[in-house]
Amino acid sequence: MHAMGISNARIFFLFYSSKMLFWLFLLLEIIAVAKVHSQPSTQGFISIDCGGSTNYTDATTGIPYLTDDPFTDDGVNSQVASGYRSSSSQGEQTLRSFPNATRSCYALKPVIKNRKYLLRGTFKYGNYDGQNSANTVRPLQFDLYFDANFWRTVNITDPSYAFWYEVLAVAMADSVSVCLVNTGSGTPFISVLEFRPIPDVMYPAVNTTQFLITNMRCNVGPPLNSVSVRYPQDSYDRLWEAWTANGFTEITTDESIDSSTNSHFQPPSIVMQSAATPSDNSSVMEFWWYHSSLGISGNDEYVNLFFSEFTPNTTRTFNIYLNDYFWYSNYTPPYLIPDYIYNDRPNTPSQQYRWALNSSGLSSLPPILNAMEVFTAMQFDPLETNTNDADAINDIKELYRIKRSWIGDPCVPQQYPWDGVNCSYETNTARIISINLSSSALSGSISSSFHMFAAIKYLDLSYNNLTGPIPDALGALSSLQILNLTGNNLTGTIPSSLLHKQNLVFSHGGNPNLCPGGTSCGEEKKKHSSAAIIVIICIVSVVLLIVAIIIVWTVIKKRGSSRTTYPEQNIVQPIKENNAQESPLPIENRVFAYKELEIVTNNFKKQLGKGGFGPVFHGYLQNNVQVAVKMLSQSSSQGMKEFRAEIQNLTRIHHKNLVSLLGYCMEGDILALVYEYMPQGTLQDHLTGKFHSEATYSWGRRLNIAIGAAQGLEYLHTACNPPLIHRDVKSSNILLSESLEAKVADFGLSKSFNMDNRTQMPNASAVVGTPGYIDPEYSSSNQISEKSDVYSFGVIILELITGQPPVVRAMNSNAISLVQWVRQRLAKEDIENIVDRNLRMGHDINSIWKAVDLALRCTELDHRQRPTMAHAVKELNESLELECAYSGDFSTGRSQTNTISVAFEVEPPPFFAPGAR
Ligand SMILES: *[C@@H]1O[C@H](CO)[C@@H](O)[C@H](O)[C@H]1NC(C)=O
Ligand SMILES: *[C@@H]1O[C@H](CO)[C@@H](O)[C@H](O)[C@H]1NC(C)=O
Ligand SMILES: *[C@@H]1O[C@H](CO)[C@@H](O)[C@H](O)[C@H]1NC(C)=O
Ligand SMILES: *[C@@H]1O[C@H](CO)[C@@H](O)[C@H](O)[C@H]1NC(C)=O
Ligand SMILES: *[C@@H]1O[C@H](CO)[C@@H](O)[C@H](O)[C@H]1NC(C)=O
Ligand SMILES: *[C@@H]1O[C@H](CO)[C@@H](O)[C@H](O)[C@H]1NC(C)=O
Ligand SMILES: *[C@@H]1O[C@H](CO)[C@@H](O)[C@H](O)[C@H]1NC(C)=O
Repeated sequence: MHAMGISNARIFFLFYSSKMLFWLFLLLEIIAVAKVHSQPSTQGFISIDCGGSTNYTDATTGIPYLTDDPFTDDGVNSQVASGYRSSSSQGEQTLRSFPNATRSCYALKPVIKNRKYLLRGTFKYGNYDGQNSANTVRPLQFDLYFDANFWRTVNITDPSYAFWYEVLAVAMADSVSVCLVNTGSGTPFISVLEFRPIPDVMYPAVNTTQFLITNMRCNVGPPLNSVSVRYPQDSYDRLWEAWTANGFTEITTDESIDSSTNSHFQPPSIVMQSAATPSDNSSVMEFWWYHSSLGISGNDEYVNLFFSEFTPNTTRTFNIYLNDYFWYSNYTPPYLIPDYIYNDRPNTPSQQYRWALNSSGLSSLPPILNAMEVFTAMQFDPLETNTNDADAINDIKELYRIKRSWIGDPCVPQQYPWDGVNCSYETNTARIISINLSSSALSGSISSSFHMFAAIKYLDLSYNNLTGPIPDALGALSSLQILNLTGNNLTGTIPSSLLHKQNLVFSHGGNPNLCPGGTSCGEEKKKHSSAAIIVIICIVSVVLLIVAIIIVWTVIKKRGSSRTTYPEQNIVQPIKENNAQESPLPIENRVFAYKELEIVTNNFKKQLGKGGFGPVFHGYLQNNVQVAVKMLSQSSSQGMKEFRAEIQNLTRIHHKNLVSLLGYCMEGDILALVYEYMPQGTLQDHLTGKFHSEATYSWGRRLNIAIGAAQGLEYLHTACNPPLIHRDVKSSNILLSESLEAKVADFGLSKSFNMDNRTQMPNASAVVGTPGYIDPEYSSSNQISEKSDVYSFGVIILELITGQPPVVRAMNSNAISLVQWVRQRLAKEDIENIVDRNLRMGHDINSIWKAVDLALRCTELDHRQRPTMAHAVKELNESLELECAYSGDFSTGRSQTNTISVAFEVEPPPFFAPGAR
């Protein structure tokens, strides 16, 4: 009894009014209508025909399949023997086998981290090797892993049967690996690999600590000669195998029985349209299976039973027993609505699972069963390779194009690390302690990634074609005991850090151009001369700098005497044309006189807007270059000297995604900055519809804007030393150029200036920023870092996705931050419901997911969990790749699902349900 659970939705239901139900039915109907017209999308599907030689679209399902060479780098392609071909789908006719490696893997990507998916491998032996080893006398066996987790033993007992194994899990990274391990009972092989994203709301037992292995998925009581149901009847391409038994009578209905997109299991209508009842009007329906027949080690069994009534206005009520215990009592299936009963905790472990559905009291009809799923829950293996080690070895693999099956986690599964790699294992982490890349045709210099293995003891790079010097940093690897660089083409001298290292066995013979340490070599001389050049350059630049400062100083002193007041629009000054021409202006880093600014802006005629620091005017330099002149309020908290230094710094920062500061004016209490003009205005204007243009028309364009802004911020964080923190990242500080390229504005100012006319924060203290964008950690601790910009940037991504302002006025008229708003909505709704309705073109929902995932990580409360801007740039680019692949399909005319989105404030009850429990 204690192991029994019922749907939460069922309990939920009691609290809903009939009005709610009306809306629910309407929704179901809309979905039903929509389904008739459109094939569900195959977006995010990864479908691999292992061993195949061409890409193709499967004739029955219409799903496109790819050859497997982009996903693996090992193995031999084969075909099943001719006698086994006729009954196979195209994918099952070919296979890839792995005769030479112990562990061979596939890397499936792109995959959206933290999303749920279904992964299925199909194995049809078909006597491809002519050995007919797959017979019952000597079954062919090997082990299957996904990521670092043992999945199951593949047990091929029939050469003509296509065995399929499935797992439901949450993606822990941007790719999922599938590995086949040779356990000494025959050569591993695989025929088809299929990856399908599924909505988060489905299969609640699947989470970041637990995954499900599918044992059975049955379409109960199907019409005679039915085949398995899969895509497109099942949008998620689950396989529902036809199942009937002696003593069952099949019944069917023609009415469709569709599920809501918010429900947990969403069985396809066609599966629900057939059912079994006991023959001979018996009042009991019984079936069972043995645990041992599942071939799975785990004991945590989860079962879903699906029901729907086909006969109107009847009473059909029954009790459900498992191994003679009540599992669920007095259940009545709803009429033509899919319903389910599922475990929220595993069943009590048993050798045999015997089920009985018994009619109860007043029932006029016997029990019924439409479909069934059985799973075993397993825990994720927490053991994984230290991220620094894993990143370094993956970089090495890419850099030297290493031709080994180096896919998946380098150290896990523990018995089968990568070829040439050895690891040490502690609780939950593995460290790489040895790398053998001897005779691996490596060329180029010794990568800096080799110094990243903090725990390495043994490094063998002998007999390759490595060139360049031996990096000094290798000597700093404290655990290194053996370093073998024999037989390469290394040059320079041996670093003394290596020569003098204690307990190191270091071989470096067979490098004809390598200078042993101590002697003076050509390389060394070069170093001296380059050092001399650096010293000379330094002296010269210091002298030049001093001269420049003196000149600037005298010019400013001269101008400072002609004090001017704050600009007023009606001051008319004669324009001295020739005066401007007298001194040809350098475009950058220019000091403007106030008079010049009057000329440039035609007496402050056209005001572009009012920024955080004061009004901004449009102007022209004499070469017709357009500029924006920002007049600063005179509330500088800093001395002029510091301000000038700051501005001087800013004029030196140049990046295509930063608005260039061309010059400045400082006369008396006049402060003005002259920027390059950005004709397309601010991102905020575009998102709020103030500025009518195509910039934010499609998701792809919005992503481009996000990438531009991210690159600008990345530059500020990494190219400047110390890092330049913007402190006021917001959509009104992202400007768009004529070609709609995003540029970050106003960087470097927040530190120098009071934010007088900016925040209306109720209890604004010294914290700088704009409501909705401020890093909560910064506002509570006053500690600022680059990660505060990352937080604000996350808010901008959310603005781009949702079209909502950074502070949202919610239904109950309480204002909440956009971050909270998105988190709350995502907890109970489909992601499509938060996407901006103004995105007029279709978009790849996986691309959106990836961006949402990034934005949520950027806005984590703990700054250590936020990514760097560099990482954000990388992920946004991946998101753009997904979108491009999608819109490529779009333009070639592939049909697209129109998702019907209806916003619910609360999760609707998926199904009709009994009121009693
Ligand atoms: C199949 O398509 C994939 C992805 O578009 C490509 O990488 C691969 O080379 C193609 N294979 C063949 C045989 O054309
Ligand atoms: C596997 O090993 C066999 C014999 O050692 C060799 O002939 C064959 O080329 C190898 N195959 C691959 C794919 O490396
Ligand atoms: C494989 O299948 C055979 C025949 O059904 C069975 O005897 C054997 O125990 C199975 N092996 C594994 C590891 O499941
Ligand atoms: C995953 O689900 C299991 C079983 O319902 C539960 O014990 C566990 O706490 C869940 N883990 C997370 C991270 O929610
Ligand atoms: C079932 O009963 C309802 C009212 O209880 C009635 O409106 C409906 O027509 C009945 N359906 C059939 C098929 O008898
Ligand atoms: C080693 O590299 C050099 C230059 O990169 C190249 O000329 C030479 O052919 C390479 N030798 C081998 C054996 O690959
Ligand atoms: C590398 O050097 C070590 C120590 O000198 C030696 O034992 C080992 O055999 C060398 N490896 C190769 C591939 O030559």
